[in-house]
Amino acid sequence: MSIISLITGWPGPSGFGSASTAEEVSEGIDAANLTAIVTGGASGIGLETVRVLAMRKVHVIIGARNLEAANKAKHQLLEQNPAAKLDVLKLDLSSIKSTTEFAHNFLALNLPLNILINNAGVMFCPFQLSEDGIELQFATNHLGHFLLTNLLLEKMKSTAKSTGIEGRIVNLSSIAHVHTFGDGIRFNKINDKNGYSDKRAYGQSKLANILHVKELTRRFKEEGVNITANAVHPGLIMTPLMRHSMLLMRLLQAFSFFIWKNVPQGAATTCYVALHPSLKGVSGKYFLDCNEKRASSYARDETLAKRLWDFSKNLINSSYKV
Ligand SMILES: NC(=O)c1ccc[n+]([C@@H]2O[C@H](COP(=O)([O-])OP(=O)(O)OC[C@H]3O[C@@H](n4cnc5c(N)ncnc54)[C@H](OP(=O)(O)O)[C@@H]3O)[C@@H](O)[C@H]2O)c1
Repeated sequence: MSIISLITGWPGPSGFGSASTAEEVSEGIDAANLTAIVTGGASGIGLETVRVLAMRKVHVIIGARNLEAANKAKHQLLEQNPAAKLDVLKLDLSSIKSTTEFAHNFLALNLPLNILINNAGVMFCPFQLSEDGIELQFATNHLGHFLLTNLLLEKMKSTAKSTGIEGRIVNLSSIAHVHTFGDGIRFNKINDKNGYSDKRAYGQSKLANILHVKELTRRFKEEGVNITANAVHPGLIMTPLMRHSMLLMRLLQAFSFFIWKNVPQGAATTCYVALHPSLKGVSGKYFLDCNEKRASSYARDETLAKRLWDFSKNLINSSYKV
């Protein structure tokens, strides 16, 4: 996919492109037998993803830190689609305790789990530590999703095994993964205020989102598990994500309006990767505009992916004070 296809919306090999919407890429798919979790599903790309999955009859659980906003979103979606199967559960991904409680609360519902969409995110935050003492963008965008995925993996494996339906994990990454720190991930300085850059810390967390699906894929293949894990860049979409840099982003948008998407287009790649039958068995890949794309060399580094996995596990174990 070239810049020309991005601007014109011309479809790529998948038959879809930057102009495709989430409804278009999932048209004709009946997913009545599927259950999905969408983190950060109360606004922006996540909310549109929830709407379209529910339209395709998926039972969707919205994981949200702001329950009031999530319940409001749920009621609005139900007004448009009274048959939608929607639930809301409290989830603050920056907190190990809250993420663990979310997983326990979900597991207590005794539902299957076919699709996990790790969508929630924060961008360009000034330096801040989470309640567990971890830099906020890394804690929210990567570590929370890493922990959540691990806590839900057995459920996804048992669902895939008992139903014979392939499970799918989708991580919302970004093209910003290319703009990270010198070594990709600052393992030795992850919580260090010195040398912190809000932009590079975001890029680092989005690189981690891709490395996460790489290592998941390696493990799934080793275990022979019927689950795929892929990362997506949704495009550039004006959403509340931009809140820490609204002026800069509005300025950028004014000069590059021709490459920006609306929200229905922004949710297309997520819905394509989560639902489309043509991606059966495809795992460990990076998608942009509903087509596979080569990610950065760091993002393709399997040793880095394995190191990040071990580092993330240790960081959670050493940071969590019950
Ligand atoms: N928009 C773009 O141009 C763009 C480009 C590349 C990648 N992405 C990625 O796409 C994803 C969705 O972004 P978006 O544009 O739809 O932004 P958004 O509208 O701000 O949505 C992000 C969602 O994440 C939630 N969230 C933030 N911190 C959380 C936490 N600690 N625990 C639980 N939920 C949390 C937010 O909840 P609150 O409402 O409570 O804040 C919000 O619902 C992000 O991962 C982002 O990095 C977006």
